[in-house]
Amino acid sequence: MNNKCSQQNNKCSQQYKFDVPEIIFGRGSLSQVGSCAKRLGGKKVFLVSDEGLLNAGWVDYVMRSLTEAGLSFVFYGQVTSNPKDYEIEDGFKEYVRHRADVIVGVGGGSAMDAAKGIAILGSNGGRIQDFCGNNMINRPLPPLVLCPTTCGTGSDVSQFVIVNDSAEKCKFTIMSRCVAPDISLTDPDTLKTLPEEYLGSSAIDALSHAVEAYFSVASSTLTDVNALEALRLLEKSLRPAVKEHRRDDMENLCRASLHAGMAFSNALLGVGHALAHPIGGLYDANHGHVNAILLPEVLRFNFPVAGNKLAVLARTLGYENFGAKKFSEEIAFEAVGKLIEAGGGPTGLKALGVCKEDFAVLAERALRDVCLLTSPRQTDSDDLQDILSKVY
Ligand SMILES: [Fe+2]
Repeated sequence: MNNKCSQQNNKCSQQYKFDVPEIIFGRGSLSQVGSCAKRLGGKKVFLVSDEGLLNAGWVDYVMRSLTEAGLSFVFYGQVTSNPKDYEIEDGFKEYVRHRADVIVGVGGGSAMDAAKGIAILGSNGGRIQDFCGNNMINRPLPPLVLCPTTCGTGSDVSQFVIVNDSAEKCKFTIMSRCVAPDISLTDPDTLKTLPEEYLGSSAIDALSHAVEAYFSVASSTLTDVNALEALRLLEKSLRPAVKEHRRDDMENLCRASLHAGMAFSNALLGVGHALAHPIGGLYDANHGHVNAILLPEVLRFNFPVAGNKLAVLARTLGYENFGAKKFSEEIAFEAVGKLIEAGGGPTGLKALGVCKEDFAVLAERALRDVCLLTSPRQTDSDDLQDILSKVY
């Protein structure tokens, strides 16, 4: 990627790559998880999930599929939201103790990122913090199958792992093409048991991924196609999915998450996620809610460098005719804001327990986050604190 080139409105040609796992998508497809693990060469599966999925019955469902495929398994369910370093290290010890040889992660971003973290340690050893940053993994991971049960994280296709350093109360990002799984398997029927508050918030996480990837300096024609398809699906189905829980709309939210995941995994993100990570780490806050609060002001911050993409964004979000009004930046701002409103959730950082006194620390941590590498606009601590103040 050449930032200077990209920031000059693509006046010179741009090199890019597009990396995705094998993708299986469709209602009922979770029953294939056993055969997926088997054809990756596994004999003993290390199954990573959480208490919510266990209580909802999906862990038993996956276990039946593994048994039918003739595989043995060990279940590790000690994963909480914003997965902690010690949860990954404990999981790794269990993985080694049971001599498992393939990892299956089932759940939201937390369970899937924990599964990725265990896989990193499984082939590289050390502490999970050793792999913080870009391309710090030397050895390929064990076979990995990831099955999302929310509609926003994108972890099942992404080259990112987000982990919370429990001592520092700070999330750190691991970025490497090694961490994209072998197989991403999405069964939209799993949304049936997703608690109401997570449906809207995870869909808004997908919205943030699509918007930030679309404006990233590493965006390409391939990532743009996926980002815009995610936006189209969210515009079509987010409101009815939240209100009426229609099956087709829920499926569209899963599809939007997948497209947004493929977009941001390859184009990366920007200021919104660079700020969302330290906020989530310090306050253990819902990632989708943090993004919902930040995204409109992040979009406004990027207005000076957004160019023609703003009008495309607004059209994709249903603002087909600008009427007598000429297209303006505020129309794009309104389009994104209305969709976020439909997702629900708190409207300011104060409601998440964020303290103004922490703004300088949050900004300083955001400046170290790898997501800033692809921000379309250069930023500093004052800019970041200004965004935080506006959404407080
Ligand atoms: Fe996210």
